[in-house]
Amino acid sequence: MKKYPARKTLGVACLFAALVFVSFAGAASPGGTASPAAPSAHDDVGARRAFTAAYGVFLHPRCMNCHPSGDRPLQGDDSHPHAQNVQRGPLGDGKYGMKCGACHQKENIPGPHRPPGAIVWRLPPPKMPMIFQGKSPHELCEQLKDPARNGGRTLQQIIEHVSTDKLVGWGWDPGEGRTLPPLSREEFARGIKQWVEKGAACPE
Ligand code: HEC
Ligand code: HEC
Repeated sequence: MKKYPARKTLGVACLFAALVFVSFAGAASPGGTASPAAPSAHDDVGARRAFTAAYGVFLHPRCMNCHPSGDRPLQGDDSHPHAQNVQRGPLGDGKYGMKCGACHQKENIPGPHRPPGAIVWRLPPPKMPMIFQGKSPHELCEQLKDPARNGGRTLQQIIEHVSTDKLVGWGWDPGEGRTLPPLSREEFARGIKQWVEKGAACPE
């Protein structure tokens, strides 16, 4: 029992020393020049920069054409409304006889202007439409962080989705005559990972 107060004093002293060290280290590196090896170093400027680069991919027609603001998918590099009045439908896979799967297969059909394909070709459902079209970098960033609007995902699951999902992957294997997003898939996935690791700050 006698030793207890002494230990407590030592503990407080250590805590104090640690605090002094931390605030000194922080002051010594204004603007967060933390070593790149540090795993999850918080860095708002770096996070915003990473998201802004990735934004160009989200808004590219290969992605945006399936993430439209209206209830029709879009087509082509000018993102015009899908021909034949194709609609999102109650589950995202089309309406009545015009189901996506009636024309879109599990793979691209060879030849220009033939239906592209990938596993379960569809739009997000109307109750969770995941709209990219027309969103500013700030708006899209906030939406991707919000489980109520991103399909109930954590940020780790967003990294996972952009790294491995087959519909995302189709963006880099879109079939004849279709342009590619501005970053490679690896660069894009790495950028999203960096955005999350640096604290997922959103552009202003
Ligand atoms: C009647 C056949 C048909 C149906 C049904 C159909 N599509 Fe298409 N779709 C096509 C064809 C053909 C193309 C290629 C057009 C071109 O390249 O000019 C296409 C292209 C697209 C593209 C454009 C890809 C790009 O980036 O340019 C998207 C996105 C798309 N369809 C989504 C859908 C979705 C989602 C559904 C269901 C809700 C659907 N389609 C239903 C025939 C169809
Ligand atoms: C054929 C249509 C289609 C294409 C093309 C497509 N997506 Fe999606 N995307 C979907 C559907 C459907 C979902 C919902 C699936 C789910 O929740 O499991 C989705 C969900 C997502 C999500 C999950 C969460 C959220 O908040 O939006 C992200 C991120 C995403 N897509 C990014 C992309 C990117 C990046 C591309 C282009 C490289 C792309 N998508 C191309 C149909 C598409």
